[in-house]
Amino acid sequence: MKICSIFFLLFVGLMPAPAQDLDRLAREMLFGADTSCSRQCYQYFMSLLSDQRLETESILTPNGVAISPEAAAGCMLEHTRTQVFVRALYQAAKSVGKEDVKILYVGCGPLAPFMTLTAPLLPKARYSLVEISENAAASAGVLIRRLGLQHQLDTLIVADATAMQVPGALQYDIIITETMDAGLNGEMMIPILIHILPQLKKDVVLIPEEVTLELVCSKNTGHEAYQERRLIFTATDLLHCYFETGKFPETEVLPPPCANNAKSVICTTVRAFRDIYLYPEASAITRQIPIRYIPGKALHFAYSMTPPRLLVDGRWRWR
Ligand SMILES: C[S@@+](CC[C@H](N)C(=O)[O-])C[C@H]1O[C@@H](n2cnc3c(N)ncnc32)[C@H](O)[C@@H]1O
Repeated sequence: MKICSIFFLLFVGLMPAPAQDLDRLAREMLFGADTSCSRQCYQYFMSLLSDQRLETESILTPNGVAISPEAAAGCMLEHTRTQVFVRALYQAAKSVGKEDVKILYVGCGPLAPFMTLTAPLLPKARYSLVEISENAAASAGVLIRRLGLQHQLDTLIVADATAMQVPGALQYDIIITETMDAGLNGEMMIPILIHILPQLKKDVVLIPEEVTLELVCSKNTGHEAYQERRLIFTATDLLHCYFETGKFPETEVLPPPCANNAKSVICTTVRAFRDIYLYPEASAITRQIPIRYIPGKALHFAYSMTPPRLLVDGRWRWR
């Protein structure tokens, strides 16, 4: 390695990045309308991690998949998704009624955007991060140091959140996790919440507050275009039923009538916090899942946790 590269790495490693860059990006993400902001954040953060190698392998567990550190970093580029969650966390923190709000952030990935893009504007907030991937957690720790935010980081724990005991669990005001995919398939949000929520205080604010799955007859894309919709489950339905009975609910849903030029789909809507929504088709995690059925015949929906899957008529039919 050349001497100048060594000096560069030492310099990057020891010196926090200019605070005004981060402050400007965090403000734009929270209050602005520039959709290139997530790309700017991504490029800035990745430049600060240029000496780190992000792994490309996902982690498979019986409770579902954790996407690779490289893919998790790339999630930031989904501007609407990132902005919705960042805004939700900021608004939730403001709603708690104290400045030294304690935030548990599960599944931070290598760029920890829900911390790195809110902490500059919540200077008394304190964050505890949990991440299953050692590689992603190491990068998040380096980035947080290089952004000069380490004084707001209480802990960075490498653990599978579906199996961990949360240290000091009752201190948290907010828990945030974006560990889900469309249809609540594949990724671990439901198993994580089943394991973690009972450890936290009862009035902890959960972000996302709700995820709703509906069977919809859709004519165009965009959530305004949906004609007829039938509720399948909400995440709250799944969690409540599981906490009460140890099982998930099952339901029969009669598909809505669909004209010839329409298609039937399963729609995922995320209510991140209060009126902050991630609507169907606004991001990969709320993409439509096409579904076939016999007109007039009800579909049977169930949910399985190992791995997380929405089952239709007993089968898992899509990726
Ligand atoms: C979709 S990425 C989101 C990353 C980042 N929070 C963001 O929004 O850009 C989900 C992250 O959660 C982590 N994760 C998934 N399941 C987990 C589990 N059971 N315990 C801890 N971390 C998990 C993954 O490794 C990945 O880094």
